[in-house]
Amino acid sequence: MTAKVSIIGAGMTGSTTAHWLAEREIADLVLVDIVEGMPQGKALDLLEALPVVGKDVSVVGSNDFAATKGSDIVVITAGIPRKPGMSREDLLTTNAKIVGDATTQALKNSPDAIILVLTNPLDTMAYLSMKLGKLPRERIIGQAGILDSARMRAFVALETGVSVENIDCYVMGGHGDEMVPLTRHSNVAGIPLRDYLPADKLEAIVNRTRKGGGEIVNLLKTGSAYYAPAVAVAQMAEAILKDKHLIVPASAFMQGEYGLKDMFFGVPVQLGRGGLEKIVEYDLDKAEKAELEKSAAAVKESIGVMMGLVKL
Ligand SMILES: NC(=O)c1ccc[n+]([C@@H]2O[C@H](COP(=O)([O-])OP(=O)(O)OC[C@H]3O[C@@H](n4cnc5c(N)ncnc54)[C@H](O)[C@@H]3O)[C@@H](O)[C@H]2O)c1
Repeated sequence: MTAKVSIIGAGMTGSTTAHWLAEREIADLVLVDIVEGMPQGKALDLLEALPVVGKDVSVVGSNDFAATKGSDIVVITAGIPRKPGMSREDLLTTNAKIVGDATTQALKNSPDAIILVLTNPLDTMAYLSMKLGKLPRERIIGQAGILDSARMRAFVALETGVSVENIDCYVMGGHGDEMVPLTRHSNVAGIPLRDYLPADKLEAIVNRTRKGGGEIVNLLKTGSAYYAPAVAVAQMAEAILKDKHLIVPASAFMQGEYGLKDMFFGVPVQLGRGGLEKIVEYDLDKAEKAELEKSAAAVKESIGVMMGLVKL
């Protein structure tokens, strides 16, 4: 492989991201964690799986960031996940320190890397990482929207019985319960969801999407979702490494788009080899704009709390 992706945090999302990426055979992989032996063990296990699926990828585990040297992409997924009853915001104090350290160490070894952030509270952690790393916005993107939109697609497929391949959904806004599933832009084979489903069914899907992360936390009891978040970040990494110019919803640093500035927010972004190529602006109606403003206020509040904890 000529490309290298390092994943900081080899827990549930980190190791599952490595799994999805290894299957795509697009980059050599490094898993880093503070727990001794764990990233090495998981990396070796994954490496030993690859002959069965015929993929030639190097997978290395380490407790030392030196192993990440020269990475094209660094995925930051180190930090604690939610337990039942917790919001993503409850993770802020602990995860700010972890994400700050991970950013500094990662960039020391890979000064040109593109950073993909997964750790929650997502939009705030991406902001912290960008400011600490003094990164241009092209090189730092948070994963949230692909996951939230995939959840919505899955729920629409369950309701309609139509293939997930025919269902496109777009969720914008912060990665919290105020996220904004766009029912006018989302569609089943080109037919807007608003026209395809009765209002009560659609409302139930929107609500379930908003609380999709919490639904899984309540079922698992010991942690949060990992298959879907991990495949979402793998899709972002692939779009970047293959220079696909793929438009997906993700958390990006706002510079006036949608009337927002100096914050990360979930918007449609175009991804290519340089990272964030552009932010796509939808024509939103009054109600959609009002919902986005509510979601933006929640993200701004979280960033405000973080700024009180960390000196940037
Ligand atoms: N953005 C999203 O869509 C999304 C989805 C799922 C999870 N998450 C978030 O991702 C984070 C990780 O979730 P998880 O389920 O993988 O948790 P996990 O507990 O399974 O794994 C986290 C790992 O981070 C490691 N870690 C802690 N401090 C570290 C450090 N300084 N350097 C390197 N590794 C360190 C831990 O040892 C642990 O193995 C959580 O904050 C969670 O909320 C985000």
